Amino acid sequence: MSHKIQTLSGYIHEYQKSVLQPEVFWAQIGESFHWKKRWDKVLEWDFEGPDVKWFLNGKLNITENILDRHLFIMGDRPAIVWEPNEPDEEGVTLTYKELYAKVCQFSNAMKAQGVGKGDRVIIYMPMVPEAAIAMLACARIGAVHSVVFAGFSSSSLADRVNDCEAKMVLTSDGNFRGAKKIDVKGVVDEALENTSTVEKVIVYQRTGADIAMKAGRDIWWHDAIQGQSEECPAEVMDAEDMLFILYTSGSTGKPKGVVHTCGGYMVYSYYSFLNVFQYTPGDVYWCTADVGWITGHSYIVYGPLLAGATTVMFEGVPTYPHAGRFWEIVDKYQVNQFYTAPTAIRALQAHGLEPLEPYSLDSLKVIGSVGEPINEEAWHWYHDHVGKGNCPLVDTWWQTETGGIMISALAGVTPNKPAHAGLPLPGVQPVIVDADGNELKSNNVQGNLCVKFPWPGILRTTYGDHERCKQTYFSTYKGMYFTGDGAKRDHDGYLRILGRVDDVINVSGHRMGTAEVENAINEHPKVVESAVVGYPHEVKGQGIYAYVICDMEGRTEESLKNEIRQTVNKIIGPIAKPDKVQIVPGLPKTRSGKIMRRILRKVASGESDQLGDTSTLLNPEVVEAIIEGAVKD
Ligand code: WT7
Repeated sequence: MSHKIQTLSGYIHEYQKSVLQPEVFWAQIGESFHWKKRWDKVLEWDFEGPDVKWFLNGKLNITENILDRHLFIMGDRPAIVWEPNEPDEEGVTLTYKELYAKVCQFSNAMKAQGVGKGDRVIIYMPMVPEAAIAMLACARIGAVHSVVFAGFSSSSLADRVNDCEAKMVLTSDGNFRGAKKIDVKGVVDEALENTSTVEKVIVYQRTGADIAMKAGRDIWWHDAIQGQSEECPAEVMDAEDMLFILYTSGSTGKPKGVVHTCGGYMVYSYYSFLNVFQYTPGDVYWCTADVGWITGHSYIVYGPLLAGATTVMFEGVPTYPHAGRFWEIVDKYQVNQFYTAPTAIRALQAHGLEPLEPYSLDSLKVIGSVGEPINEEAWHWYHDHVGKGNCPLVDTWWQTETGGIMISALAGVTPNKPAHAGLPLPGVQPVIVDADGNELKSNNVQGNLCVKFPWPGILRTTYGDHERCKQTYFSTYKGMYFTGDGAKRDHDGYLRILGRVDDVINVSGHRMGTAEVENAINEHPKVVESAVVGYPHEVKGQGIYAYVICDMEGRTEESLKNEIRQTVNKIIGPIAKPDKVQIVPGLPKTRSGKIMRRILRKVASGESDQLGDTSTLLNPEVVEAIIEGAVKD
């Protein structure tokens, strides 16, 4: 645990070292791991390519660093503590030894079904320990996992299967989520009708639902592991071999597969976990995310387990069966570090303080926030009522593409300020640039957030389309990684994230591309054209507002709006369903035919009185009609 920074001066020292001698700095962190062969060179990089490599020619297996390495001294320590959806169902605790056995056994099961190094495996599962076991088993045998959040529709799932040409899908007979029982196997079956690469589907039995098993393709998890050994040699992986692909939305086109590799991701997820949460051996840590998102990858599975931590996994939702469910779990397991999203805080805040009353929450030492800007009101509520005013609140800024936390306080070590992510982690060199890409070096500046030097967790490519990676992240500002976020550096030098500056909206901490939602809406046969924007939403942070031009024949406005919502639900999934749909006679366009989203955003935010100049529009007359028909709350 020698890489845990414990004082402010320690932070300043480490930060300086990481900037002046990045290779020396990261080599020292890298040395704390077990490598099958040490690297020849720490870093090679070129942001033009982009071409970034860390720990060149180093050989390792991340699961040896999670499992084998921990067996001797802490094999009996709990690794995963699982809390089911229903409070009265018994949970499961897996020690490091038990996790080792289960991962090895499932690794052998996958191998027996024909999966090997380099093959892609889609994981579409509930929040059960087997989801983490599946990820680690892939890593053990060198297969590349791509976890798909189990709320995505069959066509989203099919797109991902096709994009990465997955050979295997891991799923369940159903998921419990709050009061709902979700037929995920049905979604998989439907998705696989439009794919051709999947040879086997392994189905974990969770709900006992009566499902169809396709002969020759589908096999039960419990049958697949039958008779398989609990020892499995770890595949030798190059530091730059792929560890996983995770799909995320961008401002254009379909979601792209962000690629993370074995060596750098291992070092970065561990280092950031240890320092941000100030994890101490014996602590119980809980992140409420789903493994379908990057937060679940880095801070439920990889980071904590690399640090030998006890990580809690929760199957359910914050408000089921009651709005005190989170706090009940904190007390039950004596959670020390708790990490959640602002949207969950705001949703719970709306239930008042009563649900908190039965619980002491005294075990908490650190509370964290991730996924979207946390507004001051939610920050204070979280800090005062959950952290009882004496837990540092880490507001952690990062992205799927960054692999791990980039800007955040280190709990209790560096200062935290409401609604500010704060200072960068050692090794992270964020810059604020103006529209021309000039670095704004002083304090009290605002602009677009970039990073000018690589860190080990940076994405390496977007799967199957390196050019897209270059265009999206490395072309806007020469020689820099562009985050897509706006940011401000205040007079003390703390960074505050202002939200996306591109056509991406953040709904409850989930990224949605406006183009993606528009494409889904346009699938409805009555839709002529659509434009989607985000607007401030009390609980979700941003809501989805859709302006749609339709052929109304044979439909009422209400029925059409519902059909449009259902279309998006079917094509992407419930998280992308527009909150508001407005049928409009036209969309405001520039003379070159581009939609003026600025105007649509203002109307959606209830600021129609601040539209600015609309005289240059091709069709200024539609603006009046749009304002008049605006959907209010
Ligand atoms: C986008 C990345 C990283 C895990 C969850 C989301 C926004 C994330 C913060 C924060 C303000 C934040 C940014 C970023 N975001 N954390 N603490 N403060 N904004 O991952 O889906 O890749 O989304 O989430 O806009 O670009 P993601």
